[in-house]
Amino acid sequence: PLPALTPKFSNILDQVCIQCYKDFAPNIIEDQAREHIRQNLESFIRQEFPGTRLNLFGSSKNGFGFKQSDLDICMTIDGLETSEGLDCIRIIEELARVLKKHSGLRNVLPITTAKVPIVKFFHVRSSLEVDISLYNTLALHNTRLLSSYAAIDSRVKYLCYTMKVFTKMCDIGDASRGSLSSYAYTLMVLYFLQQRNPPVIPALQEIYKEPKKPEILVDGWNVYFFDKIDELPACWPDYGSNTESVGELWLGLLRFYTEEFDFKEHVICIRRKNLLTTFKKQWTSKYIVIEDPFDLNHNLGAGLSRKMTNFIMKAFINGRRVFGTPIKGFPKEYPSKMEYF
Ligand code: CTP
Ligand code: MG
Repeated sequence: PLPALTPKFSNILDQVCIQCYKDFAPNIIEDQAREHIRQNLESFIRQEFPGTRLNLFGSSKNGFGFKQSDLDICMTIDGLETSEGLDCIRIIEELARVLKKHSGLRNVLPITTAKVPIVKFFHVRSSLEVDISLYNTLALHNTRLLSSYAAIDSRVKYLCYTMKVFTKMCDIGDASRGSLSSYAYTLMVLYFLQQRNPPVIPALQEIYKEPKKPEILVDGWNVYFFDKIDELPACWPDYGSNTESVGELWLGLLRFYTEEFDFKEHVICIRRKNLLTTFKKQWTSKYIVIEDPFDLNHNLGAGLSRKMTNFIMKAFINGRRVFGTPIKGFPKEYPSKMEYF
């Protein structure tokens, strides 16, 4: 059992969480630089492919970006609603051919074998890695969903940054190396905040003023959610009821995923408040099950091996111990890597 959280230690935990945000969030200049890169690439590509449009998504736009986060860009073509009938692989190859002529880029590489084909490259002046995908429309909507959650309460932002720092330190935050994506961990934080009693955030997909939930179909999925965050106090009865500090919530989150949440039984699902069972989804072969809020057939934990699952669970158990053990003062630096055993 962990010792009780003293006010003094609780205060240190608050500061640690807030510091994660301050140390890693981009400033206004860095945010503008991302927008400039987008514009510059769009104009460059339009010289050969008029009608090309580039949109930023992912952590450049969802409110949980790091200074060093990659630049996720979604390409669309004016006048075309969907990618239906497009030869995406050929377009990605053509795009790579065009971008190779851009003097500010290095290592331009088309990746056409992945589930979502992309062109990957390095932007020299900013030292940022860039990924361009085609018609990744649902990702544009989940980016907007996450940014709406970030706008509800500053504790959402602090906790999501702390979670990202934690997962990077523990080496469990890289889907391309077999663990989970930042996006998946953000969903875990949001789910915890919805399930907390009283909740810190609602399930935005369940709030609507109309008699029936509106339906906005994209790629066959309903992407509706309540996005008028300034009207939330009037539409969500629990608004403002949770007054816990960030540090308390962070420790609460580590406890939730190590002691309370039943991974075998339940799905991490932010689209609704009611519990969803792994049985109902027929997702019983994996231990960590995270449902995408729009693409309901997508389990973000589907790619985890048994070994990686254990590694992730151990990181949380150790995190709970490390953050739950009182220290005297504010820690001087980030650990280069968390200890596991
Ligand atoms: N995405 C998704 N489904 C996934 C993985 C990613 O829809 N299984 C979308 C999300 O909109 C996500 C974006 O792709 O935000 C970019 O993914 P990624 O770069 O992995 O995460 P970021 O949220 O951008 O975080 P980071 O700062 O680590 O780049
Ligand atoms: Mg990203």
